[in-house]
Amino acid sequence: MSRKVIIAGNWKMNKTAAEGKALVEALKPLVADVCPECAEIVVCPPFTTLAAVVEAARGSNIKVGAQNVHWAESGAFTGEISAAMLKEAGAEFVILGHSERRQYFGETDETVNKRLKAALAAGLKPIVCIGELLEEREGGRTEEVLARQLEGGLAGLTGEEMSRVVIAYEPVWAIGTGKTATPEMAELTHNFIRCTLNDLFGREIGEGVRIQYGGSMKPENAKELVAQRNIDGGLIGGAALKAESFSALIHNAIAK
Ligand code: 13P
Repeated sequence: MSRKVIIAGNWKMNKTAAEGKALVEALKPLVADVCPECAEIVVCPPFTTLAAVVEAARGSNIKVGAQNVHWAESGAFTGEISAAMLKEAGAEFVILGHSERRQYFGETDETVNKRLKAALAAGLKPIVCIGELLEEREGGRTEEVLARQLEGGLAGLTGEEMSRVVIAYEPVWAIGTGKTATPEMAELTHNFIRCTLNDLFGREIGEGVRIQYGGSMKPENAKELVAQRNIDGGLIGGAALKAESFSALIHNAIAK
């Protein structure tokens, strides 16, 4: 089964609207040669930068996503953003359950699941993040943790809904640390994730789900990582904040 590569930049809490617009304007000509059939390119700015980035990306091959969404349609949820608000701002994708949200903002598999259902109902394309902590890997509990995150986060989804979801495997110990999982180590884990998806949703759906790697992915290691059978792209932090490095990473990831 061939799965289209998807490279997404998670800008985290970086880039004002003016800075985000400038980044996309700089990125556009650098990635104009990447055909939509070869790879999907996504940038995920902060909420207040979304509209400016959507405008700057219009007519290009760069798609736009948000970094979180609340599950309610509206109401007394100070500081939260609804799926309809993201859609209106022009977001196509939304990142859910990033480890920083799990670590610092009390995100759980249950709340990821509620956000996921709201995102799918609104027609957003969710990127669901999973990943183990260093002590969990060292304690031999990686598979147990990932299985729990997948079962909880994806609970109650139909196969059709699952086919619209992208999974991002981000080992927490590799995020922003410069430590990348080796391609072989990442592939073993991606293969485990694939098998778990096959068990949960059947092979026909599981084999089609794209699984991104995230955690210190750089222009230098993107090719080897994405060359692995079950690594279908990347979710990029630091290297997505400059047009040159993000473009180089994308080109390396899809180089034959
Ligand atoms: P880095 O690429 O900076 O390690 O961040 C990865 C990440 O968290 C993307 O969501």
